[in-house]
Amino acid sequence: MCGIFAYLNYLTPKSRQEVLDLLVTGLKRLEYRGYDSTGVAIDSPDNKNIVMVKRTGKVKVLEEAIQEHFSGGDYSEPVLTHIGIAHTRWATHGVPCERNSHPHRSDDGNGFVVVHNGIITNYNDVKTFLAKRGYEFESDTDTEVFAKLVHHLWKTHPTYSFRELVEQAILQVEGAFAIAVKSKHFPGECVASRRSSPLLVGIKTKTRLATDHIPILYGKDADSGKPQVLPRSESTSEFMPLEEKEVEYFFASDASAVIEHTNRVIYLEDDDVAAVRDGTLSIHRLKKSLDDPHAREITTLKMEIQQIMKGNYDYFMQKEIFEQPDSVVNTMRGRVRFDGNAIVLGGIKDYIPEIKRCRRLMLIGCGTSYHSAVATRQLLEELTELPVMVELASDFLDRNTPIFRDDVCFFISQSGETADTLMALRYCKQRGALIVGITNTVGSSICRESHCGVHINAGPEIGVASTKAYTSQFISLVMFALVMSEDRLSLQQRRLEILQALSKLADQIRAVLKLDSKVQELAKDLYQHKSLLIMGRGYNFATCLEGALKVKELTYMHSEGIMAGELKHGPLALVDDSMPVLMIVLRDPVYVKCMNALQQVTSRKGCPIIICEEGDEETQAFSSRHLEIPRTVDCLQGILTVIPMQLLSYHIAVLRGCDVDCPRNLAKSVTVE
Ligand code: F6R
Repeated sequence: MCGIFAYLNYLTPKSRQEVLDLLVTGLKRLEYRGYDSTGVAIDSPDNKNIVMVKRTGKVKVLEEAIQEHFSGGDYSEPVLTHIGIAHTRWATHGVPCERNSHPHRSDDGNGFVVVHNGIITNYNDVKTFLAKRGYEFESDTDTEVFAKLVHHLWKTHPTYSFRELVEQAILQVEGAFAIAVKSKHFPGECVASRRSSPLLVGIKTKTRLATDHIPILYGKDADSGKPQVLPRSESTSEFMPLEEKEVEYFFASDASAVIEHTNRVIYLEDDDVAAVRDGTLSIHRLKKSLDDPHAREITTLKMEIQQIMKGNYDYFMQKEIFEQPDSVVNTMRGRVRFDGNAIVLGGIKDYIPEIKRCRRLMLIGCGTSYHSAVATRQLLEELTELPVMVELASDFLDRNTPIFRDDVCFFISQSGETADTLMALRYCKQRGALIVGITNTVGSSICRESHCGVHINAGPEIGVASTKAYTSQFISLVMFALVMSEDRLSLQQRRLEILQALSKLADQIRAVLKLDSKVQELAKDLYQHKSLLIMGRGYNFATCLEGALKVKELTYMHSEGIMAGELKHGPLALVDDSMPVLMIVLRDPVYVKCMNALQQVTSRKGCPIIICEEGDEETQAFSSRHLEIPRTVDCLQGILTVIPMQLLSYHIAVLRGCDVDCPRNLAKSVTVE
């Protein structure tokens, strides 16, 4: 959902060309957030103007345009301080085209230029206000109003600092945003802010930073226009804003864009305004309430640069599928003790007594994250003996679902930033429920706004289609179910069976990944078809939904996940000898029922492809082709059955010439409702 990246060097000589290279690399790391169009803004060689280059399409197209546009001496001269801002867009307001690409400008003199992620919901009102004051708009975007609003404020309040102008502008806009602003009128300065869209500041210095915090400056003295530092008892005036001799700052939508430069970052909070002036970073907020913190922490990222590179794989998605033997182990690491059959989830352990007393468990998410809830619901019901509701965040909000103080609400999200899920979280929090976050992104909004949670530790997921995050979310919820049943005598045998199966899981995933070439052959038979039906029931219904979602989003083929029990209530009408059908039929409590569905398909001349257990020849006899997976406990089957589906969608996408990592019209992190 749009990526923003900004760079500022202070007393660290960098040529404009180097700044452009940094911006382009930053955008490449953020490309998964949107790839409809891209753009950059830097200063002209005489420092009198701001030069922008924008292109429709991916960062590569912009990179070529930049090479064409900027070459030669003027751009290779080192400059002591420079600010560049950059953007990769996922279109919401206005079609993908150069005119709608960011940065957007305030006036034809490029006085203020802005990059933005999110949606300004009252942009029409602001536009009308500005149009009456003579502003003409050149794009269909909501963002442009922000640039023009800052310009209007600059004209009407000539004494305001750059930071104050942005601060006043954000007071006027509603909706979600992360923005970075650069101005011709304030050379050497950059101002950034966020509300409900992620933004962090990366800090790179030659020597070790002298502080782990930077203070928040509250309030504004309207006459002097200076930030009002609160009396010592109330404020952190003992801390100075971050002031380093030689420093580089990075503003980015997420950590993957800064990790190759620095691992020291500050995650900004809603309505923080971060400003850099004379190399000094300060963070401001207009209002202070009692429980507001005094300072923002500078955190050290644990991420490694290799984690965000493709390595020997052709696509990030392919790499992430093959990482699953390791990512599932990382999810369990330090939490599951197979020798003592003990599980500790540090992030929620203090809340377990409260959770055990709750009225019901609500599992809320979108897309693949929602499917991980569907996949584990039955086990949660069995081991917690609580009512478990599984909800799509958007629908949950549409229904104004009743929530009670004694509900426990889980919010499952790889990015931790999905707007629908975040809105649902705030809705439940307001009603007094306990909020548990299940996320893959440390420092994300869902992480920070939850009372407690489990970090799934799958490592950065860059392919837009979620793969390893799904299996790690799945395991996190299984671990939670095991924790909840620790003291239930009658469930110990079942727990033991699951724990033993968890200990074998990584090797079994490796075995399933060996099916890759067989799945590729299958993909060759399927990729020219229009549709693919995927059927199963019980613990494998979630795999059908997830498999169909993967096929749709990656290959643009129609696909439907069908509950096998529902087949005779409608979907059977779709089955004939030309409709590809894939069925999951494993030796579990619903085996006989699945066999009934299988026979219903074959008697309508359907030729199903079957995912079955190793050596199950009896079931294989009913299939046109089959994929065998190792036997595991019923509640973990979904982890092994989803992997062939991930591989199948991947291979079909490659055969159909689709862009695997960047499916059309999608973005990885959907930060708008
Ligand atoms: C599908 C996919 C999406 C996400 C959904 C929620 O492959 O990736 O369906 O699962 O947009 O995203 P998160 O988990 O970040 O909240």
